[in-house]
Amino acid sequence: MDILDIIAKKRDKKVLTREEIHYFIKNYVSGEIKDYQASALLMAIYLNGMNNQEISDLTDEMKNSGDTLDLSDIPGVKVDKHSTGGVGDKVSLILGPMIASLGAKLAKMSGRGLGHTGGTLDKLESIPGCRINLSEEEFKKQVREIGIAIIGQNEDLDPADKKLYALRDVTGTVASIPLIASSIMSKKLASGSDAILLDVKYGSGAFMKTMKDAKKLAVTMVNIGKSLNKDVKAEVTDMDQPLGMAVGNNLEVKEVIDTLHGRGPKDITELCLDSGAIMLVQAKIFNNKEEAHKALVENINNGKAFEKFVEFISAQGGDKEYLYHPEKFPVAKNIIPVYSLRSGYVNRIDALTIGESSMRLGGGRETLDDVIDMSAGIVLNKKIGDHVEKGELLATLYTNKDNTKEIYDKVVRAFRVGKTVLKRNSERILIE
Ligand code: URA
Repeated sequence: MDILDIIAKKRDKKVLTREEIHYFIKNYVSGEIKDYQASALLMAIYLNGMNNQEISDLTDEMKNSGDTLDLSDIPGVKVDKHSTGGVGDKVSLILGPMIASLGAKLAKMSGRGLGHTGGTLDKLESIPGCRINLSEEEFKKQVREIGIAIIGQNEDLDPADKKLYALRDVTGTVASIPLIASSIMSKKLASGSDAILLDVKYGSGAFMKTMKDAKKLAVTMVNIGKSLNKDVKAEVTDMDQPLGMAVGNNLEVKEVIDTLHGRGPKDITELCLDSGAIMLVQAKIFNNKEEAHKALVENINNGKAFEKFVEFISAQGGDKEYLYHPEKFPVAKNIIPVYSLRSGYVNRIDALTIGESSMRLGGGRETLDDVIDMSAGIVLNKKIGDHVEKGELLATLYTNKDNTKEIYDKVVRAFRVGKTVLKRNSERILIE
């Protein structure tokens, strides 16, 4: 077999065999196949696509390129969730304890934030003492005993994705559905859970800008699950405005606490209840979503979901006093109110601009080496559909930086305020 033939085949819109995909992944990871050859193949895939069989073969080969986690010695159905990322997305930290409080087992490997999107690991680390580098044994023990553990991705998991993603990033081949789907799914499948719920976001703050593209990606990933005999479902959800009100690590953890006490923003509460209900059915704890939804609401009202969060964070070394007394979290030295320039209805809150602004206030990283200011970020006071008066508060900036005029102006402009309410589609779809 020769990489040149494989490149030529995809260039000529032909279908690659399992053996050819295996040859490519194995020899690219070992260094035998060079970056310039892999780049050519990635571009051919980007331009000519792949059929479902090729995508699931590619996913399986990538998954098998490194370590895989074996969770089979933990009793019950192990569930996992993945969001394609967005602004203010703290769902895992709410949903995880909610479902674990009803007996589900969530074993999740998560990522760090980069650019305008935040990462679950950073949010966890913003709680003093909380560790995200548990050993495999500690991780499994915690899932077995508490029902939830969230850690950073094992360095030896899916090396093919690490190399390919870095190459795609510099060769204009990121935005390809077969490549995105195989990248996400190979990592999720290597993490060893039995059932996976995906949240594919669309909108200004998301990777997929339109619902149509998000749906295509969701269907592709659910199909990978079907061909590899995994229970994979995908929700397609709105990221045309930040999720919840808080963006930035400590600010988001405080919103997690509020939501687990039943005082959270409506959008994030509804999303967590819906996703949680789907996962509890996947975990075979409930027969239908309606019963599961009811039980989740009950566990928020009786405090069990919050207590599970405390148990989970404490097990990972986090100081539970911060969870019982969130006022202990440090507050940024500059708290800057952002006022509306006109009266009307909020028709849009550009999530990308809010995410980038939070990052520039210190709440995120531009490059992987940047150090995050855990207290920095933005809290929204208005959401889409709300009425606002000229001079009324739209948002509040939290930062330890000075000279933030430019960021302030960007945040004001991220809010589009019109005379009438614009109709918009914020539909959530479940692909199964
Ligand atoms: N997230 C991933 O893990 N991979 C992609 O290709 C895109 C988003």
